[in-house]
Amino acid sequence: MPQPLTASRSARFKGRVRVPGDKSISHRALILGALATGRTPISGLLKADDVMATARAVSALGAEVTEVEGGFEVLGQGVGGLLAPDAPLDFGNSGTGSRLMLGVAAGHDMEAEFTGDESLCRRPMGRVLAPLQTMGLLVEGGRTTLPLRVRGTRDLVPIVYELPVPSAQVKSAILLAGLHAPGRTTVIESAPSRDHTERMLAHFGAEVTVVERDGARASTVGGDAELRGRPVEVPGDPSSAAFAIAAAIICEGSDITVEHVLMNPTRTGFIDTLREMGADIELLGLRDAGGEPVGDLRVRTSALKGVRVPSERAPAMIDEYPILAVVAAFAEGETRMQGLAELRVKESDRLSATAAGLLACGVEAAIEGDHLIVIGSSEVPGGGMVATHMDHRIAMAFLILGLGARAPVTVDDTSMIATSFPEFVPLMTGLGGQFS
Ligand code: S3P
Repeated sequence: MPQPLTASRSARFKGRVRVPGDKSISHRALILGALATGRTPISGLLKADDVMATARAVSALGAEVTEVEGGFEVLGQGVGGLLAPDAPLDFGNSGTGSRLMLGVAAGHDMEAEFTGDESLCRRPMGRVLAPLQTMGLLVEGGRTTLPLRVRGTRDLVPIVYELPVPSAQVKSAILLAGLHAPGRTTVIESAPSRDHTERMLAHFGAEVTVVERDGARASTVGGDAELRGRPVEVPGDPSSAAFAIAAAIICEGSDITVEHVLMNPTRTGFIDTLREMGADIELLGLRDAGGEPVGDLRVRTSALKGVRVPSERAPAMIDEYPILAVVAAFAEGETRMQGLAELRVKESDRLSATAAGLLACGVEAAIEGDHLIVIGSSEVPGGGMVATHMDHRIAMAFLILGLGARAPVTVDDTSMIATSFPEFVPLMTGLGGQFS
């Protein structure tokens, strides 16, 4: 059943909040925990549908995942030690869970069926299957979308693979498969995508090297690896924090602090862009949390101007374009976001869904090739009904637009918000947001 929700103009957002744990790091903690020997205690794991689907998948393969006081614990089976599942692995809405786990299945002598919801079954898997097939994975019927039946092998071949498009999911799947192959497996990307897999692999004792040259990056993992269970602390998700930050910027008289947010430079493109637009964002107490930088962000209402967002920045803010486009609606002048082709293959066609949502709310917006152009002003009409297309980030972004616009904005369904940020509505209400 769809769950529509309306957001109305709100002001004076105040308070200190913590957003739930980073989704990317949460998936990886469960997966590496399952591939390690011994126990991996995880604090701050994101308890949302996407991550719980990965938890169920690694359990179905023989790792033990238990909820304990203060978080979760994984009892792993060692690299190559997982067992064939006796039922299809259902990843729900999660592209990350399914793609990373294809890399894991590749290195095991097992057959497994991968499936997911309607949105996930439409998303391209060929980009991850192609390199894994070169390494030795067999895919039944040459399919490139879920549901998929695959057969892994203990005899994977290590590869050097240049990604056609920077993608942390594809890179991670190859590196995870590479743990099971002899020799070294290298992934080269033209622009650095998020590097949580590389960081966490090193944390678990794998042999990892990362070389950057002229903006490109090569990540290498040593094969026949042995991982040892290690504690993981999951920092707050910057992609969830983005919604609270955006609300504070566009709603009058606001001053909030979002605590303990992941500040990994491969994830801070949104903050960098907001600052260029004139946002008042202060980074306080930058520190290290288990190999990842974290900090507190103090954010106040700001008058913004439109900017050009270059395509090179896309990997560092790939999930933040819907909310950036919403913020751009409140900025004076034109914001041009370039190089957004990848948005077409996210949980929905986010490029079209974002442009359509803006138009429905009376905002001037256009798509030119793979650019999204938004013409903003400090008074945004709102009043629209926005189609979310089963996409959590579209739902959250347009609810935020409603908090700042003249007339209330309704999104047609909020049920998918549970895939990444189940606490979204109560957390935003606590800060001062009005929903009905
Ligand atoms: C993710 C990588 C990104 C991002 C997704 C999470 C990850 O996808 O959009 O939400 O955890 O590796 P791509 O790697 O396909 O760009």
